[in-house]
This record gives sequence, structure tokens and C-alpha cells, in this order.
Amino acid sequence: MARKLYIETVGCQMNVLDSELVVASLRKEGYELAATPGEADTILFNTCSVRQHAEDKIYSALGRLKHAKTHNPDKVIGVLGCMAQKDQQLIFRRAPYVDLVVGPGQLHQVPQLIAEARQGAGPRLEVSLNRRDGSQEAIRRSHESFDPLRDPQMRPSPYQAYLRIMIGCDKFCTYCIVPSVRGPEQSRPPAEIVAEARQLASEGCKEVILLGQTVNSYRYRDEQGETRLADLLRQLHEIDGLERLKFVTNYPKDMTTRLLETVRDLPKCSPYLHVPLQSGSDAVLRRMKRGYTVGEYREMLARIREIIPSAAVTSDFIVGFCGETDEEFEATCESVRESRFKNSFIFKYSERPGTKGASLYPDDVPETVKRERNNRLLAIQNAISEEDNLRFLGQTVKVLVEGPSKTSQKQGQTGELVQLTGRTHCDRIVVFPGNRRLVGQLLPVMVYDTSAFTLHAEVVTQEVRPTVFQLDGLSSNV
Ligand code: 5AD
Ligand code: SF4
Repeated sequence: MARKLYIETVGCQMNVLDSELVVASLRKEGYELAATPGEADTILFNTCSVRQHAEDKIYSALGRLKHAKTHNPDKVIGVLGCMAQKDQQLIFRRAPYVDLVVGPGQLHQVPQLIAEARQGAGPRLEVSLNRRDGSQEAIRRSHESFDPLRDPQMRPSPYQAYLRIMIGCDKFCTYCIVPSVRGPEQSRPPAEIVAEARQLASEGCKEVILLGQTVNSYRYRDEQGETRLADLLRQLHEIDGLERLKFVTNYPKDMTTRLLETVRDLPKCSPYLHVPLQSGSDAVLRRMKRGYTVGEYREMLARIREIIPSAAVTSDFIVGFCGETDEEFEATCESVRESRFKNSFIFKYSERPGTKGASLYPDDVPETVKRERNNRLLAIQNAISEEDNLRFLGQTVKVLVEGPSKTSQKQGQTGELVQLTGRTHCDRIVVFPGNRRLVGQLLPVMVYDTSAFTLHAEVVTQEVRPTVFQLDGLSSNV
């Protein structure tokens, strides 16, 4: 009988991709996916360390498995990813029934480690070197990226794929744990990336989302010279079958004019740029060691708007960072009002042991103040998103259809006609009724209602000619 795997993933797109690759490697060994931990004989958690809350969730999920493991000692329980790298042995101390702890740089070893655990080899711990525990080269080598050529059946959607172009981060923002758990910044060779994209395209993939913690810092040097993200986009743009190229997450200081011009000039590049500002106060940005001022960010945003007028720009913000005063928070509110992001992800500061922030500054903004600032900033952003989405009313936009919407899944819609969801080129979510057959197609839909997060639309019948393509700010790239 096939072995059953249950995997739970928290965190960013990197983790989603890592889980996909782990699942693929285990399916090759004959595993099938189980819907609940109860049905599974192997239970894996792919974890995140960016905020305390993400870790608490995993520790309580592990707590709930204690009983199951006592009754069923053959179950293999594994903790993978960033929290595994950060907490290492601590995980075995807090949950002694865990069998494997595997860092993001060792995921290729998971099938082997599960087999060893099953044979009674005892707890398996495989993690990368900490950033102070070896030579630069040894540390770099210990963080291996796990990007084997993919099995198309393992992807969540056959039409979309994440593609990692770099790992790690060297920016060391003072609040952030990523540089210690994901290791030094390392760019993958362009030839490898292009080969993977070609394979994805040959399997029917239409949209590729390039991943890197600071994706626009991509830099690969060899005898032929230096390849930056702009060069890579040009190479990927040549691939037949690929229709859309997106890339996340950008670092403001590395948003070069050449990259923006490349996005403007290549029709497959989505006019969508996620470039986190984090705070609208220079003093806070300095404490965060972000490496730019609000003025410099403003200048960059102006360049984006000038070169790609249709661009949807999104941001991340941390509220309640150490010492954040009312005035400093007000400055962030003002930045959000001024910048008119498509949307913003807003987080309450969570102190991460081992970061510069934790050792330099007390986490002194009370939780209630953080919560209140979070809500206020979100309300400002949502009002802007709602207002800006209004200009789509009555317009025709081209969507890549992703699948049945959450609502249709919740309602258990089973027929051919369901509520579908897709995204515009500028990454706006669109829902509309349609036949399941449309999944994976790029098709024009007419927007008849909008909210802060969603465009509601109807499929455009062939006779109706799309009018949107001349509209200001909704160029053919929408
Ligand atoms: N606390 C709260 N939010 C954080 N982020 C990163 N580290 C922390 C932290 N310690 C946020 C940043 C980043 C996003 C992925 O998570 O806004 O851009
Ligand atoms: Fe963390 Fe800053 Fe690197 Fe982003 S750029 S992963 S916030 S250290």
C-alpha cells in the first residue's frame, strides 16, 4: 500500500515552492498525499520564522500530534524549513517525538532522512552552518538550493509556477531573521534558470513567477560577463508558450532604470512590482537599516510611474518597530496615502532573537498600540485600493484563469459552470462565472463591480471587442 504524506506549509512563496519540490521527491518514492494528519503515516511541517506567530502555530500543531505519536509510533514527523534552521535541537527538546528537523538548504535529503527515521535510526537533524560558524565558502555551500527539474504533475497549477532564481539574503535589515536562516545571497546560473523555464513552458506553463528574497539584486558572473535580472528577463522572454513573467520581492535600492525599461519593453513582463517600503519615517528606516530614505524611495516610485505608467506597485510595512513614535507612524500613514500602492501587507513588529534589532533596541511598542496602528494603516490602504479599483469598472481586462474561486470551493459547486478566479497582468484578482474548461486560458473579461481586493467580471463573448487597450493607465499590459 502507498505511503501517505500530509504536509502543512506556512510562510512565503519560497516555502510554497520548497514544499512542492519535497512533495515531488516523495511522490517519486511512491507516496500519496493525505488530506488530514490522521490518515498520514508521514507528517511534515514546512515552517517560517519571520514572525513569532508563525512559529507558535507550528509548535501548537506539533503539540496536538503528541498523542497520535504515542498511539502510532510508526508515524514519522518532520519539521522542515526556516524554523528548523533557527531552532535546530530546541525542536527535539520541545517535541521529543519529532523524527526529523531539516533546514531549507537540506530539503533534497528529506526522502533519505524519512527512510532512516523509519528504520529506527533515531532523530535526524540536518541544517546549514550558522553564519558565523565557518568560512564564507563553507557557509555558502551548506545552503544548497533545492531545484531539481520538476515533475509537472506535482505543481499546484499546471499553468503557473514559481521559479527560484536566487537564495538567501545579505541585506541584514535589523528586524529580519531571513539572512541567518536562509544564508548568504546566491544567484543561480542563468542557463539553469532558462532550462527550467523551458521545461515548464513545454509542460503548458503560461506564467512564471521568479523568486528571490531580493529578486532584483540578482547577479551572476561567469566568463561571459555579468547577468542581471533585466538580462535574465530578456532570455526568458524568448521562450515560446510563456505568456507572463513576474518577479518578487524587490529591494528598493536595486530597482534600476534598466530593469524598469526592460519590464516596459517586454510585453510578457507583468506591470506589477512588489517593492516593500517598510516604514515612512527616515528615523525608523535607519533603525531598520534598510539602506534608503523615504525621499529615495519616492524618487524610485516616481521613476516606476514615469517608465511604466500602468504599473501596480505593492508594499510591505512593519508597524510598531522598536521606538516607533506616533509621529513616525503618522509619517508611514502619509507615505501610504501618497504612494497609492495597489495593496500593502502590514505586519506588527515581532522581535526575532539573534537579529541586530533584538540586541540593539527594546521591543517597546505595546501590543495594543501595534494592533491599533496595523488596523489604521490597513484602513488607509484599503480605502485607496477600493478607490483605485473603481477605474476598472466597465473595462475589459485579460485574465489568466487559475481555477474555481474560494467561494465556489466552499459552496461545493460541482457542475461545469462555477465561479472562477484569475489575475490580470498587473496582478489584480478577478472572479467571474465560467466553465471549468477555461482554467489555464488567458481571456478577456468585462469588469462590472469592484472592491478593495477583487474585480467582479463576466466573460466577454467573442463579438464584443475589448476597448480597454487604449485606456490611459490600462495599457495593453493590464
Ligand atoms: N516582524 C514583523 N514583520 C517582519 N517582516 C520581516 N521580519 C519581520 C519581523 N521581525 C515582514 C517585512 C517583510 C515581510 C516578508 O515580513 O515586512 O517584507
Ligand atoms: Fe529580510 Fe531585509 Fe533581506 Fe528582505 S531584504 S529578506 S527584509 S533582511
